[in-house]
Amino acid sequence: MQTKFLLSEEQIPTHWYNVIPDLPGPLAPVIHPGTKKPVTPDDLLPLFPMGLIEQEVSRERFVRIPEEVREIYKIWRPSPLFRAHRLEKAIGTRSRIYYKYEGVSPAGSHKPNTAVPQAYYNKIFGTKRIATETGAGQWGSSMALACQMFGLDCTVYMVKVSFHQKPYRKSMMQLWGAEVLASPSDRTNVGRAILAKEPTNQGSLGIAISEAVEDAATHEDTRYALGSVLNHVCLHQSVIGLEAKEQMKLAGDYPDVIIGCHGGGSNFAGIAFPFVADKSAGKKVRLVAAEPTSCPTLTKGVYTFDFGDTAQMAPIAKMYTLGHDFMPPGIHAGGLRYHGASPLVSQLVAAGVIEAKAVGQLACFDAAVTFARTEGIIPAPESSHAIRVALDEAERAKQEGKEKVILFNLSGHGHVDMAAYDAYFAGQLDDFEYPADKVREALARLPKVELAG
Ligand SMILES: Cc1ncc(COP(=O)(O)O)c(C=O)c1O
Repeated sequence: MQTKFLLSEEQIPTHWYNVIPDLPGPLAPVIHPGTKKPVTPDDLLPLFPMGLIEQEVSRERFVRIPEEVREIYKIWRPSPLFRAHRLEKAIGTRSRIYYKYEGVSPAGSHKPNTAVPQAYYNKIFGTKRIATETGAGQWGSSMALACQMFGLDCTVYMVKVSFHQKPYRKSMMQLWGAEVLASPSDRTNVGRAILAKEPTNQGSLGIAISEAVEDAATHEDTRYALGSVLNHVCLHQSVIGLEAKEQMKLAGDYPDVIIGCHGGGSNFAGIAFPFVADKSAGKKVRLVAAEPTSCPTLTKGVYTFDFGDTAQMAPIAKMYTLGHDFMPPGIHAGGLRYHGASPLVSQLVAAGVIEAKAVGQLACFDAAVTFARTEGIIPAPESSHAIRVALDEAERAKQEGKEKVILFNLSGHGHVDMAAYDAYFAGQLDDFEYPADKVREALARLPKVELAG
C-alpha cells in the first residue's frame, strides 16, 4: 500500500501550462476602469512589470519557467501526492482518494508558487518595492517571503479584522521583512476617505486591493502584486496539476473527479487546468470548484463585467461576480471571501467544462476534523471546502455502488488558524446562508461596459 507518490527535483516542471489556447472560445477583453475601453499592455505598466503583462496576454500553451524560479521551487517542490488510505477506511468507501499537498511550502500554502515568479519578474524589471493586499495573511506572507528572496521591499495592506484576529500571520510577514498596515489605513487616499466616513471600518479584500493599487500607481519604483484571479497567477499555479498528472501515473490511476477550493480561483486552476486539455480531447474527468455558501460567486453570482476592487480602480473583467462592493460574512476561510473569480475559471464554468459546488462552514470544519484525525494533516479552513466536496463525492459513489478515483488539492495547512478550530469545537461558529439581499443590492451597482462590434 503506497501512501506517498514523490517526484525528484529534476521533475519540477520546466514549463507552466497556459489554458488560454484550450478555452472553448475567445477570452473577453479586460476593460480600463477609467476609459471603459479594452486595456493595453501600456495601461498595465504602472501596476505590473512587462514580464508578467506578457504572460497575462500570452497565447502560448507552455511558458518556460526561469531557472532562478525553479531553484527556489526546489525548497518545497515537487510537493507530495498522497493516497488517503486512512480516510478511505474511516468513511468506508471503495473509492480511491488522492490529495496533492501544497502546505509544504515555507508559507504553508500554494501561494508561493506565484509569489516567487512575481518577485522574480519584478526584480529583473527594476522594481524596488511591491505593494499588495492580504485577507487572512496567506498571500501577504507568501509575497513577503518571495520579496525577501529577491531583495525587494514589501508593503502589505492587511484587512483590519484579520490584522487584529490573526497576529501570527502578521508576525510571519514582519519576520520576512515586510511592512504590514491594517487596511483601511491612513497611507492612501482610498483608506483616508473610508476612515473619514467610518472610523471603525474593519476592512475587506476589495478595500485592501484598492489601497495597494493606489500605492503602486502613485510610486514610480513600486509595483502591485495580486495573489489570485489573474491569468498569470493561474499560469504559475499550473505546476500543481502538472506534477499531479505525473504522480497519478506513478499511482497507476487517473482521476474521475478533481476538486479544489475556490476563492479567486488560483489553486483550483492550478490543480484542474492541466486536465482541461485531456477533457477536451475526450477524457471523462469532472472538474469541481468548491466555494463557501456565504460567498457563492460561481454558484449564485452573475457572469458579467465587474471591477476587481471596491474603489473601482482595478481593471474591469468579465467574470462571475457578486458585485464589487458585496461584503461577505466573516467566515473563517478568509481566503475564500472574494466577490469575483478568475476570468479563466469563469469562462470554463459558463461553458460547462467546470462545475461549482457551494458548501457550508460547519460541514467544512466537520470534514477537516475527520481528515486531521485520519490523515494527520490539519487543513487550512479554505482547503477544508475541497475535503468536504471530496467526501460528498465518495458518499455519492457509495450510494450508487460505484468506485471513483477522487483527487483534491489540499491548498494549505491550518497551523495559524487554530483559533478557528477552537471556535468550532466551542460551538461558536455559524453557517451563513446565501445572502440574497446583499448580493441583489451589490449587483445593482455593476459597471456599464459596451464593447464595440
Ligand atoms: C490555503 C488557501 N487555500 C485557498 C485559498 C483561495 O485562494 P485561491 O482561490 O486563489 O486559490 C487561499 C487564499 O488565501 C488560501 O490561503
